[in-house]
Amino acid sequence: MTAACRTSRIGERGSFLLVYRRVVVHWRAIILLLILALATFLIAHTDFFGLSLFALLLIFIASQFFWIGRILDLGERLIPGKPCRAWLAIMASLVYLFVFLYSYPEWGLGHTIRAADYRPQSMLIYAAFWWWFVGSLLAFLLLIAFGAVDRAVRAAGWVYGKARAAILHHSAAADAEAALLSPSRRRFLERTAVLVSATPFVAVGYGLLYERRNVEVVRQRVRLARLPKAFEGFHIAQLSDIHIGPFTTADYIRHCVAITNGLEPDLIALTGDYISWDPEAQGEVVRVLAGLRAPHGVFGCMGNHEADVGIEESITGLFAAQGIHMLRQERAPIRLGDETINLIGIDHGSDLAPMHTREVEGDRRLQQLKALVMPNTVNILLIHYPHIFGYLELGIDLTLSGDIHGGGQLSLDFIHRGLNLSSLMGVPYIRGLYENGGAQLYMNRGIGTTGFPIRLGARPEITVFELTRET
Ligand SMILES: [Fe+2]
Repeated sequence: MTAACRTSRIGERGSFLLVYRRVVVHWRAIILLLILALATFLIAHTDFFGLSLFALLLIFIASQFFWIGRILDLGERLIPGKPCRAWLAIMASLVYLFVFLYSYPEWGLGHTIRAADYRPQSMLIYAAFWWWFVGSLLAFLLLIAFGAVDRAVRAAGWVYGKARAAILHHSAAADAEAALLSPSRRRFLERTAVLVSATPFVAVGYGLLYERRNVEVVRQRVRLARLPKAFEGFHIAQLSDIHIGPFTTADYIRHCVAITNGLEPDLIALTGDYISWDPEAQGEVVRVLAGLRAPHGVFGCMGNHEADVGIEESITGLFAAQGIHMLRQERAPIRLGDETINLIGIDHGSDLAPMHTREVEGDRRLQQLKALVMPNTVNILLIHYPHIFGYLELGIDLTLSGDIHGGGQLSLDFIHRGLNLSSLMGVPYIRGLYENGGAQLYMNRGIGTTGFPIRLGARPEITVFELTRET
């Protein structure tokens, strides 16, 4: 070991588990990045999705400063001969460089973000990258929270001690401070910090290997006051966000198709995002979805991914050849006896288009939607994301949507509704049923994944609605 290496170890022996000291090593960069991230989040809440992603990236970079330090510490401890910290740093940098070069120069298919390569080695790289990305980010945030709580406890203890000392005139303050800084308390904190930081990595592994494919069938009763009598008990199954790709395989989608058919719905609604990034995959996803069966037909609308990749026309044609009707600024009357409900489908458009283009397009879609609504009839709208929910005067009774993947595929909604990635980014409608002055919206969590192939707290979902007039 070189003298420099030896020097770098002085004072660190036995301190590997001390979270605070490790944060302090890079505290200026980490604090700066976190402040930038916080500022970006605040700006993003004025409805700027791209900035939210940028804020996440900043937090990720801050977390990597922290974790690289931990990996170097661990490497020095575990590798016999204790190689120089500088060599370990070079090796860690090479891993980051590899991931970057693996994606570069084509920021398109094959890229870790836009995974569309089915070769096992690529899938392994995608899975490892995303496990590390999500796990290290969550663990970092948890450690910061843990550190903040510890600081708060210490501060409270100090204040309590001082107050006691002032009242009782003895050395309670010193006693309390000594207790807070005692070796046993530090050891306890160190072990807890390790446990806290390990939990997200284990949880994300679970989300990657199991929860991502653990489909839940959700049965949702929907009361529609003006539902025609003939439609009492009518069942609509909804599948959303299929995202065929390396991690959402044709076999898995076939499994979802079999579950859906087993529910024996009267009608099936598909609410967009059939592919992720690969236009070549459209033929296969259509072939699999062609297995869906319902007496009143299978209908759908376009998601943003069809528009992003430019396959709206072609996939609509492929679906039509299989008897599946994509409703693109169209309506389809569903008849039962002499009675009718009106099914409408509207395109989402591309999320990659400039903001101004999207606004103009949105206004045009709204006008088209108004023309498709049938008065004095139950109108059900299929739209990938419900930008229009809240326009009560439109006369849409029920809107079926998806897009958000149950909160960006990462959610702690079981603790508190709204504690999920998408809500943090300012998205108003996330999952489940919403009601607004008589109009209802259902946000389906989808069955596939995009971006990271992980679902945590946001299981894939097949929904079956039972329409009723009864309360
Ligand atoms: Fe999606």
